[in-house]
Amino acid sequence: MDLATQNHIRTCWEGKQEVKVHPTINVYTFEMACRMFTSIEDCGHILKLAAQFDIFLKGVISFAINIPGTRFHCAVKAADAIREELRLLARQRREALDKKMASSTQDLLSHLLVTSDAGGKFLSELEIVDNILLLLFASHDTTTSAITCVMKYLAELPEVYRMVLKEQLDIAKSKEPGVLLKWEDLQKMRYSCNVVSEVMRLLPPVRGGFREAIVDFTYAGYTIPKGSKLIWDTGSTHMDPILFPEAEEFRCLEILVFLHNIVKRFEWDLSTPDEKLVYDPMPTPSQGLPVHLRPHQSSV
Ligand code: HEM
Repeated sequence: MDLATQNHIRTCWEGKQEVKVHPTINVYTFEMACRMFTSIEDCGHILKLAAQFDIFLKGVISFAINIPGTRFHCAVKAADAIREELRLLARQRREALDKKMASSTQDLLSHLLVTSDAGGKFLSELEIVDNILLLLFASHDTTTSAITCVMKYLAELPEVYRMVLKEQLDIAKSKEPGVLLKWEDLQKMRYSCNVVSEVMRLLPPVRGGFREAIVDFTYAGYTIPKGSKLIWDTGSTHMDPILFPEAEEFRCLEILVFLHNIVKRFEWDLSTPDEKLVYDPMPTPSQGLPVHLRPHQSSV
């Protein structure tokens, strides 16, 4: 992951004066997910899937009207196209595994293909494809939104940026040049991790979700009958003075690896300081968060 992140920063950030954070990070998180779940590394292949995926995401939370032209209809078609790609990939991988030309532990796709339940039953091809689609969905926009918001706050709070930079430089200096980040290094990122947690408290990527009561129950003096539709709201919990600051620590590997690599190389200013955040459905800067990059004189 560290190496892929360094390559991403070299290609998409270095040598540029201004970068739009949100769309750039969107490509990065999708690339990471494709690598981790399916070992797809070819840029063209990833970009083709990413384009379909964007259409899919736009229709996930929309009115379920399946007629041509609606967001929902486009999303259904895009999901079918992605499933087809993944199905093809699964078949190729099964062949490669049979011929011992792929490893059973190389990624999630291999794992799902070779693993059975206690009764020896394997997942069907469609179940494997849907599992990967779910994980691509769950990991992509959430992480993009979180990293973009971290970049926004670090530009707005130079004191916090300096503390993050110091922590990351200390970690970089404790390692031999060129040695990649290890799990132990991530565990040392205590301050950075708290910054990420705090950003996600203030701007949670997921604002809430739906539930259905499966039994009658009482909450805060209210009787909730079985079958009631409920919505849980992240914001009200995150802003509850009784609960905060005891919120549990959230350690997110991909965000910390990105943070390590980006603060080591750059400082940045927001090109549009008062840029609005829109919720679609994740917090997203309306203009993609353009930033002016200022490379450090010497990078570690
Ligand atoms: C900043 C990043 C992330 C945030 C804020 C986030 C947030 C959430 C939330 C709030 C839920 C609960 C949804 C519900 O119960 O209705 C959820 C579920 C889930 N997330 Fe994430 N997530 C993040 C990253 C990831 C990543 C990187 C992965 C996969 C590698 C992932 C995989 C999943 C899965 C599979 C579920 C469903 C779990 C279940 O229902 O059993 N998420 N996530």
